[in-house]
Amino acid sequence: MVHTYYFSASNTTEKIVKAVADNLRQEVLHHNITPSRIARTVNPAKDDIVIFAAPVYAGRIPVVAAEKFKKIIGSGQKCVAIVVYGNRDYDDALIELCDLLNDNGFNIIAAAAFVAQHSIFPKVAALRPDADDLKKIADFSSDVNKSFDRELSFDMSSVKGNRPYKTPAAIPLIPKTNKNKCNKCGKCSHECPTGAIDLNNPRITDPEKCISCGRCIAVCPENARHFGGLKYKLIAPLFKKKCSARREPEWFVAG
Ligand SMILES: Cc1cc2nc3c(=O)[nH]c(=O)nc-3n(C[C@H](O)[C@H](O)[C@H](O)COP(=O)(O)O)c2cc1C
Ligand code: SF4
Ligand code: SF4
Repeated sequence: MVHTYYFSASNTTEKIVKAVADNLRQEVLHHNITPSRIARTVNPAKDDIVIFAAPVYAGRIPVVAAEKFKKIIGSGQKCVAIVVYGNRDYDDALIELCDLLNDNGFNIIAAAAFVAQHSIFPKVAALRPDADDLKKIADFSSDVNKSFDRELSFDMSSVKGNRPYKTPAAIPLIPKTNKNKCNKCGKCSHECPTGAIDLNNPRITDPEKCISCGRCIAVCPENARHFGGLKYKLIAPLFKKKCSARREPEWFVAG
């Protein structure tokens, strides 16, 4: 059986990990570790194959995802590491995820970095993964399939990234709530990965806890949350220009 464990605030990592898993010739069980209040995570059985996936935040994997992944202990299971980034760069995120999984007792057979719509600046890599990406995801899955039945060794030095990992820059953007649209349903508060949104008054966000992940925006049924303000409006077009050249998926498999 294949187990996937993924963190996905704005659902693109989820879409990609499900596409990878759908192309494998195995029964699949998905574990979404994104919300802060999740039931205890299940460790995979000895013969299972495991896929771990996370978005790239400031060139690293999100701290909240790394903390949850560290609690999933392996015993030599074959495993696939995936990061998803918003067309700027994945920097040290993939090597960081590979190191974490190695230290946790998994046997990495493949690692990949895919591109998706930027969750803070959605005009960057808009609507990705697109049809071209999905074709490449199918090619990746086919390479992974070939590694299942053979004892191949994975070359960690082939994975792009540096150690020590880069220090992630703080992202000083907190979603705002449109008071006219918000009906205080509490969905954003329940889904926030860090518990930053007040349960009794979802219009209040704790700036110390918010990691700018955009989950509250993605899950709000009233479309009441958004990134905005002068700083955001100034940065958005500059960032779009800087990241306009299309980047393609990259992967590394055991050989
Ligand atoms: C706080 C934060 C930091 C990000 N940093 C990067 C980055 O360093 N490089 C990049 O290309 N994209 C970056 N992104 C974009 C995400 O990696 C990308 O949109 C990803 O698809 C989000 O995955 P999700 O939809 O599963 O949440 C960042 C997004 C957020 C919210
Ligand atoms: S999910 Fe949307 S409508 Fe519901 S409380 Fe949050 S902001 Fe308000
Ligand atoms: S409040 Fe911040 S941390 Fe919580 S879901 Fe929204 S963007 Fe993410």
